[in-house]
Amino acid sequence: MAVKKQIILNAFVMNTPAHMAPGQWRHPRNKTANYTKLSFWTDLARLLDTAGFHAMFIADTLGPYDVYKGPGNVVPSLSSGAQYPVNDPLYLVPSMASATKNLIFGVTASLTYEAPYSLARRLSTLDHLSNGRVAWNIVTSYLDSAARNHGLTEQIPHDERYARAHEYMEVLYKLWEGSFRDDAVVQDVESGVYISPDGVRAIQHAGRYFRVPGPHFCEPSPQRTPFLFQAGVSEAGNGFGGKHGEAIFVAGQTPEGVRGTVENIRRVAAAEGRDPAHIKVIVGITLIVAATDEEAYAKREEYLRYADAEGVLALFGGWTGIDLSKYDDDADFRFADETKVASIVKRWASSVPGTANLPWTKRRIVEFLSVGGIQTKIIGSGKTVADELQRWVEVSGVDGFNIAHITNPGSFEDVIEFLLPELRARGLFRDKVEKEGVTAREAYLGVGQVRLPEDHPGSYYKWRAGEAVPKYQEEAGSA
Ligand SMILES: Cc1cc2nc3c(=O)[nH]c(=O)nc-3n(C[C@H](O)[C@H](O)[C@H](O)COP(=O)(O)O)c2cc1C
Repeated sequence: MAVKKQIILNAFVMNTPAHMAPGQWRHPRNKTANYTKLSFWTDLARLLDTAGFHAMFIADTLGPYDVYKGPGNVVPSLSSGAQYPVNDPLYLVPSMASATKNLIFGVTASLTYEAPYSLARRLSTLDHLSNGRVAWNIVTSYLDSAARNHGLTEQIPHDERYARAHEYMEVLYKLWEGSFRDDAVVQDVESGVYISPDGVRAIQHAGRYFRVPGPHFCEPSPQRTPFLFQAGVSEAGNGFGGKHGEAIFVAGQTPEGVRGTVENIRRVAAAEGRDPAHIKVIVGITLIVAATDEEAYAKREEYLRYADAEGVLALFGGWTGIDLSKYDDDADFRFADETKVASIVKRWASSVPGTANLPWTKRRIVEFLSVGGIQTKIIGSGKTVADELQRWVEVSGVDGFNIAHITNPGSFEDVIEFLLPELRARGLFRDKVEKEGVTAREAYLGVGQVRLPEDHPGSYYKWRAGEAVPKYQEEAGSA
């Protein structure tokens, strides 16, 4: 095969007992029930760092999955640990950074329920403490329960969330890139000046959604703007990602289907004046890998014995907003009245070999989702899985994968033992890092690229050494 592009591999996790595979916390190779212990996280970070993974990517939500048997019913999530409880991911980063050399930490933080001024400070703090090894996964959130618990009666409508998000980013760029000049922090012992007052400016942002005078409350961190991940697959989501995202996390069942999303993102980026090649597209995937195909399928059977159907249905309810408890056990959802569930299930049916013409009952949905969630799954030996990943890269044009786990660290240990040697033998995965201890942006875009690239819209707000005021203020005449 022709492709020799080296692929990016991230470990996809969440600060919770059951991320994508409810029930597996009971499996002997699973340690996620220790998610409240720092040692669980530092051990995992060391495992991934030593193996050469690019990043640990941590999902997050701001409310429970309470649609199934609902509305407002948290019992199925609670009793199965299905993304409940969920601790804050940001606090994990400093300890994991100090335990590792190269691993990047991609943390999810929603910009729908937190003021830009405070999120800017939290992310700058992480960028300082990790020496630039942090990436921010920008999400707009999708749960009604999050809206209700943050003082709203319902979610802000989908496209308006993205409109707010665009302005939110403008505020952040002004704080991160435009409120401290590059030479502002002098720490001059002789004169006793820590920061030169003429190197710091108010941002005076007054927009439709936000009023923030600034300046930023943190001194410049290594990357200033942390490396920007974005997750979202709608038209508005791609519009946002193509403009702001430096790496985009997408979902999809087939490489042919994901190809359209990848092309759309790159098209938006080009229309925004960006080099589309600067954007990395990463797809979520679940791998069950073992020494042989037979052993991998046997592993799947074993996982199914630990699956928790109620937890899986709770996750499905949260992801889709659809309560499957209303349906009979033998209903075939390919033909459900609710068009949304029918279209989701038909997509799955067309991607799971041999199931296109079989009934997709609740039981089949549970079976599909319980071993690795909503993502596409590849099962087999290192060779089988490597062949399939290679095909994904060739057909879809993605740059890498967020690998979900069924057991943790078990699934990652299997990838390290059975898949990485195969990928390395094909020249598809790095043998070693190009340079030790680089920032998140350098790890994804290349050594030396610490700050936002010049073609990124956030660079417009940069206040450079020697300039009297940041360019955006000069042009607005508000200096
Ligand atoms: C692959 C992927 C991962 C996501 N991860 C999260 C997450 O961890 N937390 C969250 O609140 N939303 C997450 N989202 C949801 C998005 O932020 C967004 O709210 C949702 O997908 C709706 O936007 P869309 O219609 O543009 O996809 C994710 C979306 C996708 C596609």
